[in-house]
Amino acid sequence: MELNQEQIVRVLKKVNYPGFNRDIVSFGLVKNVEVQDSNVNITILLPKPDDKLKSEIESSVKTAVLGIPGVENINIDIQARQQKQTPTEGPKDNKNLPDIKYYIAVASGKGGVGKSTVAVNLALAISKKRDKVGLMDADIWGPSAPIMMGINDKPIASGKNKILPIEKFGLKMMSIGFLVNEEDAVIWRGPMVHGAVKQFVEDVEWKGTDYLVIDLPPGTGDAQLSLAQTAPLTGGVIVTTPQDVALIDVKRGILMFNKLNIPVLGIVENMSYLDIPGTDQRMDIFGHGGGKEMAKKFNVPFLGEIPIDPDIRIGGDTGNPIVEFKPESKASLAFFEIADKVLESVEK
Ligand SMILES: Nc1ncnc2c1ncn2[C@@H]1O[C@H](COP(=O)(O)OP(=O)(O)OP(=O)(O)O)[C@@H](O)[C@H]1O
Ligand SMILES: [Mg+2]
Repeated sequence: MELNQEQIVRVLKKVNYPGFNRDIVSFGLVKNVEVQDSNVNITILLPKPDDKLKSEIESSVKTAVLGIPGVENINIDIQARQQKQTPTEGPKDNKNLPDIKYYIAVASGKGGVGKSTVAVNLALAISKKRDKVGLMDADIWGPSAPIMMGINDKPIASGKNKILPIEKFGLKMMSIGFLVNEEDAVIWRGPMVHGAVKQFVEDVEWKGTDYLVIDLPPGTGDAQLSLAQTAPLTGGVIVTTPQDVALIDVKRGILMFNKLNIPVLGIVENMSYLDIPGTDQRMDIFGHGGGKEMAKKFNVPFLGEIPIDPDIRIGGDTGNPIVEFKPESKASLAFFEIADKVLESVEK
């Protein structure tokens, strides 16, 4: 039987981009495939010069193609796209973006302050007030929104090669964790992170979403920068806990948004206090009021205080977000108020 191009492409579609659950064909890396008798010529274009990536792809392509009966010779030409600096090209010029009206990024200088909790519950609170709300979990190193939302399904692709978000509690939701293996991402920096975040933003079918709440990884690094370069973020919410060590990082968060020209929508103080059950007393476990002070100091809005509530933690672990399951709780009411302030700020 004579070899043909389709046969080769079919096999290349099984070769994954190192570290991704996606193949090199759908990533757009394979530029040309030629077949002459038993000889195959393949041209591959890498997104950036990278020797390790090059040799990994080269060897997996070789193994895959030489495994096709009838192929005797393979010639792989791997080139790399030169990194072009195009500072004038902002995310607004990105034609691959869906027309989302408001991108609301949830950030924190420090990890573990409740950023994902706030992102999930804020998105849910907004969805009780507006239609067409989405939640994007862009925490490449610790995606937790699927667990907090109780999502066990994996997303599927649409006919147009886009990935369809998963719907739950009236929200559209998509996590970068569905596409990227967390263990691989641990060692990524710069271009790899950028590629993953960009792909993630552009390849998800967000059509029909007006408000997109984004859970960022903690800190102020590559992923935040990539997201800001890819999507026209409307504003950023900064989450902190009341104690000093967390508050120091609020400053870094504010400076990051300032540098990226993204308005700070305000500060949320999470784990702000504990109402002691059965009494009318409260306990300031991590201190109290630091978020408000920081907001004043940096002249940004203070959005609200979320109490410590075991139902938040249990809800997060079991996929029963508090805003959905205990909408009357003090914490949920705080989330609704924060949602109001955020909406007022982005819609004006
Ligand atoms: N107000 C709260 N009351 C009780 N538990 C909370 C509260 N806020 C967050 N938690 C719990 O604290 C833990 C950390 O919260 P979360 O995962 O939202 O933090 P994060 O800032 O997103 O962390 P990371 O930096 O790892 O992404 C979770 O178990 C969550 O359920
Ligand atoms: Mg998180």
